[in-house]
Amino acid sequence: MKHHGKVITIERHIIEEERKHPGASGDFSGILRDLTLAFKVIHREVSKAGLVNILGMAGRQNVHGEEVKKMDVFADEKIYQAMDHGGHLCVMASEENEDVLQIPDQYPKGKYVLLYDPLDGSSNIDANVSIGTIFSVYRRVTPSGHGTMQDCLQPGYKQVAAGYVVYGSSTMLVYSTGDGVHGFTLDPSIGEFLLSHEDIRIPKRGKIYSVNEGNYRWWYDGMKKYVKYLQQEDKATNRPFSGRYIGSMIADLHRTLLYGGIFMYPGDERHPNGKLRLMYEANPTAFIVEQAGGRATNGKDRILDVVPTSLHARTPLFIGSDEDVAECEEFLQGKRQLT
Ligand code: AHG
Ligand code: MN
Ligand code: MN
Repeated sequence: MKHHGKVITIERHIIEEERKHPGASGDFSGILRDLTLAFKVIHREVSKAGLVNILGMAGRQNVHGEEVKKMDVFADEKIYQAMDHGGHLCVMASEENEDVLQIPDQYPKGKYVLLYDPLDGSSNIDANVSIGTIFSVYRRVTPSGHGTMQDCLQPGYKQVAAGYVVYGSSTMLVYSTGDGVHGFTLDPSIGEFLLSHEDIRIPKRGKIYSVNEGNYRWWYDGMKKYVKYLQQEDKATNRPFSGRYIGSMIADLHRTLLYGGIFMYPGDERHPNGKLRLMYEANPTAFIVEQAGGRATNGKDRILDVVPTSLHARTPLFIGSDEDVAECEEFLQGKRQLT
């Protein structure tokens, strides 16, 4: 570890990364700095979520007499508020909002675009299960002024940065600007994200698969066969794999990034495009996983090559260790059969 023994805050890390690129405008450190503020606020609220009842706030009003917001709406607003005035962005889009989110007229418009899923896995909150936030950053394509839908609807390979936060047993931020993947753990006592996982590489092969198997009945043939294959016994290929499914994509993805294996949300007979959103969930995680040496596909094409046609479109997703995902693709495409 080249930083052994030093305490590296995320801010320092970004500044040092930017110095490697002479002429960098510093926009990036600005964007990340503003984002981390929102993440810390969300972390604080998420870690208090269980107290809401005890503190008597469940009666729809908090101590200030305000309506208690659902946590995903709260997170959505915190991110927007942290990002609307910095002058780095020209437009935003969030999983929680139908339309693009404009920068208020009184603030300058910048060169970048932010897309985000403010709270991923929100149905898990009440059970104290890990949840997350996902974001991705693009360079604008329109020349100036307010950004537009065109700025938001770019294929994933155009991302200049992406990342996620997982609010788990500790809160971690993982991000990439196209130069590897780095993980930071929040030290709540000083309120800083500190470098804890430098240059994360996903194992080429894993031994864990992650999918909602309750949908088995509606899966297509190739998918059924692939999962049966993973359950067969074969020492040479580490099978059977273990099954793990948290139901918060970011928590499942984070484990997959660190331990290897494959996370899947396939299309099926009921939902041909699956459930997850291309712009808010698939693209940013595909960017991270590829940067870590892994692979992400919709079963036919590389996720990052898909040209988006709408902000909230869903996509099947198969993501994780390079060799596992490649093998999965062969089954999905009928190039491989069970033996
Ligand atoms: P969100 O909370 O942002 O709507 O996302 C929920 C997603 C994702 O986190 C998870 O992988 C998936 O829903 C789980 O879906 P199933 O319950 O259908 O397995
Ligand atoms: Mn989500
Ligand atoms: Mn969400």
